[in-house]
Amino acid sequence: MSGIKSAAAVGLTLLANLVLAQEVIINGVVQQDVFFYGQSPPVYPSPDAEGDGRWGDALSSARAIVAQMTLEEKVNITGGFSNTTNGCGGNIPAIERLNFPGMCLQDGPNGVRETDFVNGYAVGIHVGASWNRNLTYARGSAIGGEFRRKGATIALGPMVGPLGRIALGGRNWEGFSNDPYISGILAAETVRGIQDRGVIASTKHFVGNEQELLRNPRPDLSNRNKTIETSSSNMDDATMHELYMWPFADAVHAGTGSIMCAYQRLNNSYSCHNSKALNGLLKTELGFPGFVLSDWGAQHTGIASALGGLDMVMPFGFRFWGPNLTEAVRNGSVPESQINNMATRIMAAWYFVGQDSPDTPPLAVGMARSHLRPHTVVDARDPADDAVNLQGAIEGHVLVKNIDNALPLRNLSMMSIFGYDAKNPNYNSPAEGFSAWSLGLQSQNYRSITGGGSGAITPWYIDAPFEALSRRTRADRTALFWDFDTNGANSTIDTNSEACLVFINSAASEGVDRPSLRDDFSDALVENIASSCNNTIVVIHNAGVRLVDRWIDHPNVTALIFAQLPGQNSGEAITQILYGDVSPSGKLTYSIPRNESDYGSLLAPVNYTGWDRYFPQDNFTEGVYIDYRAFDAAGIEPRYEFGFGLTYTTFEYSDLNIQVTSDGNLSEYPVGPVIPGGEADLWDNLATVTAEVTNTGDVEAAEVAQLYLGIPVAGQPVRQLRGFDKVMIAPGETRHVQFDLRRRDLSVWDTGAQQWRLTLGTEYRVWVGASSRILPLNGTMVL
Ligand SMILES: *[C@@H]1O[C@H](CO)[C@@H](O)[C@H](O)[C@H]1NC(C)=O
Ligand SMILES: *[C@@H]1O[C@H](CO)[C@@H](O)[C@H](O)[C@H]1NC(C)=O
Ligand SMILES: *[C@@H]1O[C@H](CO)[C@@H](O)[C@H](O)[C@H]1NC(C)=O
Ligand SMILES: *[C@@H]1O[C@H](CO)[C@@H](O)[C@H](O)[C@H]1NC(C)=O
Ligand SMILES: *[C@@H]1O[C@H](CO)[C@@H](O)[C@H](O)[C@H]1NC(C)=O
Ligand SMILES: *[C@@H]1O[C@H](CO)[C@@H](O)[C@H](O)[C@H]1NC(C)=O
Ligand SMILES: *[C@@H]1O[C@H](CO)[C@@H](O)[C@H](O)[C@H]1NC(C)=O
Ligand SMILES: *[C@@H]1O[C@H](CO)[C@@H](O)[C@H](O)[C@H]1NC(C)=O
Ligand SMILES: *[C@@H]1O[C@H](CO)[C@@H](O)[C@H](O)[C@H]1NC(C)=O
Ligand SMILES: *[C@@H]1O[C@H](CO)[C@@H](O)[C@H](O)[C@H]1NC(C)=O
Ligand SMILES: *[C@@H]1O[C@H](CO)[C@@H](O)[C@H](O)[C@H]1NC(C)=O
Ligand SMILES: *[C@@H]1O[C@H](CO)[C@@H](O)[C@H](O)[C@H]1NC(C)=O
Repeated sequence: MSGIKSAAAVGLTLLANLVLAQEVIINGVVQQDVFFYGQSPPVYPSPDAEGDGRWGDALSSARAIVAQMTLEEKVNITGGFSNTTNGCGGNIPAIERLNFPGMCLQDGPNGVRETDFVNGYAVGIHVGASWNRNLTYARGSAIGGEFRRKGATIALGPMVGPLGRIALGGRNWEGFSNDPYISGILAAETVRGIQDRGVIASTKHFVGNEQELLRNPRPDLSNRNKTIETSSSNMDDATMHELYMWPFADAVHAGTGSIMCAYQRLNNSYSCHNSKALNGLLKTELGFPGFVLSDWGAQHTGIASALGGLDMVMPFGFRFWGPNLTEAVRNGSVPESQINNMATRIMAAWYFVGQDSPDTPPLAVGMARSHLRPHTVVDARDPADDAVNLQGAIEGHVLVKNIDNALPLRNLSMMSIFGYDAKNPNYNSPAEGFSAWSLGLQSQNYRSITGGGSGAITPWYIDAPFEALSRRTRADRTALFWDFDTNGANSTIDTNSEACLVFINSAASEGVDRPSLRDDFSDALVENIASSCNNTIVVIHNAGVRLVDRWIDHPNVTALIFAQLPGQNSGEAITQILYGDVSPSGKLTYSIPRNESDYGSLLAPVNYTGWDRYFPQDNFTEGVYIDYRAFDAAGIEPRYEFGFGLTYTTFEYSDLNIQVTSDGNLSEYPVGPVIPGGEADLWDNLATVTAEVTNTGDVEAAEVAQLYLGIPVAGQPVRQLRGFDKVMIAPGETRHVQFDLRRRDLSVWDTGAQQWRLTLGTEYRVWVGASSRILPLNGTMVL
């Protein structure tokens, strides 16, 4: 909404805004961007939740229980409290007289963190690279099952923001991709998977949390009376809709019970009290019926956040809310109807996933941390999930170079393994979630199965590559030598080694951005091995983009796998791929450029030092042009493009067919009612594209066919991902791939109309192929 429209729509008389906005009407068009850039328009009041179907039932139940709560009780369920004994990362108190047990909130997106008898699943970036919807659902379901058995109410994930605007961003690996389309599809599968197990998913972080530096306010060390606020993610309305908010819409559509607001300021107003973002975008435009949860410590005001759309605060209610919020209601500063609204949204999510069922395990029953005190064993593992966990670890590996038939390995009489990253870390402890915070950055000491912070995992075992390869080589009677201690310069390489595997990593952790996209230590290690072994196979466990140009063209580097962050089955997964038990099927969900400079200003986080450094400004002036959108527009040739990945066979594409759905509503703007996710008809399929893919090689393998769309509107990227279909194909076999294009996939955000707009009567360009730059098929369509 524009300043004028939102103010008018809610009957506010914000004279200053109106007057100043009118001053920049040029040729009858309000030039909002001139005046409002970096400012957030007010949107009040916070809308009540509405919904039909399952949400309707949940809201009815929620209204009924909230009607029985006292004001203190309603306020109580909006604020976290500390329970030092139960091991939950956040708690909501019980209301015993109403049989409400309270809530237990826990990290994280890749498995239950900081407890025992749980699995550690493949991490977000790895899930993205699998491009596999069903596997993503199954993983979400497995994770949800473990939260449920441990007695946790809310799983803090999936993560779709940061999206990955900044190459060195410290948390990009927690998400699926820096492309909003695949990120949204996989977030929706994850939300459904978790919630079908009776656990609330909290999709995070809304929105603009694109760097770790300056993510929290802090005192200025040279003048402690002054606070340096967080960086402000200043983005225009179209960029918000077409890029950063896009995957959140999918999560809301999938029914996410909760959305976590972010640390950063958004247009200079803190995300957790930004009324435009929470009341306007999320609760009005997307029709989100659930509750907004603060990131830990991300609340900075009391009344403003209660009116601005925040519903639950963590970890502590009492700092700004609690008794103070009760008092604010009593003295008329906050209407009680808003407390009802907040409490209803919280309880609705609880009913929506079925937490009221008598089968729900007791609250926090298995959450106690084993290293803290004796506790009962609650084994959350289900052996039925083992196959999904391993498959997830396998499918996120991306093979990008393979010459001289280096892979798959076969009939080796001798192999050598090098590199700090082949073996397990020195401990595996339920405190890992904490320790990885610091260790995650010391790449030479830490084997990356995940990153540090909220996305850390505490699995019951870690199968390291060295262990799995040792099992294999021993069974095959392959002689195995290794050297993990030196930097490789002084390693003795037995000249009879038929393959030299080098394991390096590129680690990351929440709380800090990454120091670099490559490191000399690891690069020298690869070069040193390659200088004396003519079949050097490099495996990188990378928590984000990792540049490889220093050695990728070395003739002795015969293969490279981006192994990303596979979770606890790292070793078995890489072994199956190296030996060709399975063909690799992962593809990059980000680009690997040649140089840091290819990113321009999007390489590193903003570290604002201007005169007003107390209010750091991060202007998203690049709009939607991040990653491949930016490289395509600037004519920058990446080393490995978005969507790229090799396997052990070859595929041919044919028979592109583009069909505009005849019975779809083809009006320029959607006309449907708002349902969770936006107007209902945004989700209608308006066109179907199909093609045939043939396996022209001699092994079975899965192919991820991709559809890219060129929207015929000035200012839109050359092409953007708008479909993918992963199919397993036997040698010689041809499989049909299909892409359904929804109204939203074909639309651009019209800032004037505040609606998604189709382009009628002009040709859209459609490409189908194996990556964002291998596009053998193309055609056009007109709506
Ligand atoms: C941020 O400012 C831009 C530019 O004026 C505006 O288009 C957008 O709606 C604002 N968004 C929020 C969340 O304040
Ligand atoms: C509110 O929660 C606290 C625990 O944080 C509890 O001690 C108190 O009794 C609760 N108050 C009401 C009115 O339920
Ligand atoms: C804190 O957790 C313990 C262990 O789960 C539980 O027995 C206790 O009732 C909890 N305290 C509160 C105030 O909820
Ligand atoms: C994915 O799941 C859907 C729905 O359960 C099913 O129809 C489809 O066949 C599955 N696809 C694959 C590739 O397993
Ligand atoms: C900080 O504020 C205190 C109290 O107002 C004042 O005495 C002190 O001089 C201030 N310090 C600085 C560095 O301005
Ligand atoms: C909350 O209320 C107490 C008691 O009135 C007051 O001392 C405190 O400053 C208030 N906190 C905030 C953040 O306003
Ligand atoms: C490698 O050998 C050289 C020469 O002997 C020595 O100076 C260097 O410290 C050794 N490097 C390592 C990592 O052991
Ligand atoms: C490649 O490896 C062989 C040993 O197999 C070595 O002799 C040769 O110098 C290496 N090539 C380069 C360019 O380092
Ligand atoms: C690579 O090295 C192996 C072992 O030293 C040797 O047998 C083989 O001939 C070499 N291959 C090439 C292409 O140089
Ligand atoms: C950011 O700027 C501050 C102040 O100039 C400096 O101390 C700090 O090292 C900088 N951080 C980064 C990551 O550049
Ligand atoms: C951000 O944009 C505003 C408005 O255009 C401008 O005044 C400011 O200088 C920009 N800040 C930075 C750090 O580029
Ligand atoms: C479409 O495909 C044809 C045939 O491969 C090719 O010549 C043409 O350049 C492609 N057009 C675009 C816009 O990619």
